Amino acid sequence: MKGRDAAACVEPAGEGRVRVNAAGRCFLVAATCPHRDGLLLYGYVNAAKLRITCPLHRSSFDLVTGAVVVGPSDGVLETEELPCPST
Ligand code: FES
Repeated sequence: MKGRDAAACVEPAGEGRVRVNAAGRCFLVAATCPHRDGLLLYGYVNAAKLRITCPLHRSSFDLVTGAVVVGPSDGVLETEELPCPST
């Protein structure tokens, strides 16, 4: 499990995407940060705030909208909410 938050994980999803599970919600997100291509597979996920933080320069993005919450990125993160697979 990546993301280091017990309620969150990030997994490769193929085709330049990662799947982020956070607080029972699932998102398909660009695998690289819009700032300088940091690998979001190694990003930190804050499940409570539904954010992912890039490991390279620490831009933090809203998983729902892709908007930059804090950090140097001036680009929006591609994100899409998906239905979570039932277990
Ligand atoms: S590459 Fe992600 S914040 Fe710079």
